[in-house]
Amino acid sequence: MVTQAAPAEERSRRHLLDVAGLDWRSLQKLLASAGEMQQLLDSPAGGSDALRGVGVTTLFYEPSTRTRLSFEAAATALGARVTTFDVATSSVGKGESLIDTVRTLEALRSQVIVLRHERAGAPWLAARHFGGSIVNAGDGWHAHPTQALLDLSVLSRHLGDSGGSLAGRRIAIVGDLLHSRVVRSNLHTLTTAGATVVLAGPASLTTGFAEHAASFRGTPGSVQLVGSIDEALHNADAVMALRIQRERLTPGELDSLEAYRAAWGLTEARLAALAPRALVLHPGPMNEGVEIDPDVADGPRSLVLEQVRAGIPMRMAVLQQVVSEARA
Ligand code: CP
Repeated sequence: MVTQAAPAEERSRRHLLDVAGLDWRSLQKLLASAGEMQQLLDSPAGGSDALRGVGVTTLFYEPSTRTRLSFEAAATALGARVTTFDVATSSVGKGESLIDTVRTLEALRSQVIVLRHERAGAPWLAARHFGGSIVNAGDGWHAHPTQALLDLSVLSRHLGDSGGSLAGRRIAIVGDLLHSRVVRSNLHTLTTAGATVVLAGPASLTTGFAEHAASFRGTPGSVQLVGSIDEALHNADAVMALRIQRERLTPGELDSLEAYRAAWGLTEARLAALAPRALVLHPGPMNEGVEIDPDVADGPRSLVLEQVRAGIPMRMAVLQQVVSEARA
């Protein structure tokens, strides 16, 4: 069998483009580093100057609250020079290409670009033209590596064994699988951590996932696609509700938001099917009253805000790692 080598930019650890391909040892290293970063955040200094003088630019072509602000908080806590690139008022509106933008940012002394883009693969393109580090902050429907890493840190803390492993744990992910970069990245991290991931969503929004689940390169059976939310929730140790991505829906994919809630919404009544003390997650932003009810989002099992908080130390760990690799 001829195996094709991954492109150089994908192999280079000076970028974080994807979590696909990261083995358990690499994930454990990031979890441990995020733990150390949390200690730094909790210390009187509140951070370090490990990235002093390093130029970090957040370049977001799609809206964001959590990811952009937590990357900026993370870079600031490490002493970096942080620049927010405002796409709306930039020369992107005059036709400046992604390649031209990243080359321009390099000329302006950015060493790290945190990139969110509506096109899958855009971070790989940027990495081919940028001399520093590219960190993927979400590309189209394809990948959201740091969301999956922070979700893993939260789940490992609550459900993991002493080494953080999720072996024997059952994690349900419910909702709009089709448009979700979060689910695609979480499949890799959670199964690599040993969990079984049970997926469910309406047929119109699970296109391709049966094949994906069947061919997933992990332990056989580690990804299962089931036909109803009750089946997905049955005995699950945690459930993650996915956002209905109204901006990506095409006509006919969803009858109505009310019908969606009735069939697939995470309601208090449905939580009874979960394992005792099971946890509730949502990557945000939430459509409360659609994929998750407000009393569930704010309820005692909810880790939604803990996920947001976990974004800062995990993104500090990622920034530190890519800069160290770039310096090596
Ligand atoms: N979870 C997430 O990516 O949220 P934002 O779009 O607010 O960054």
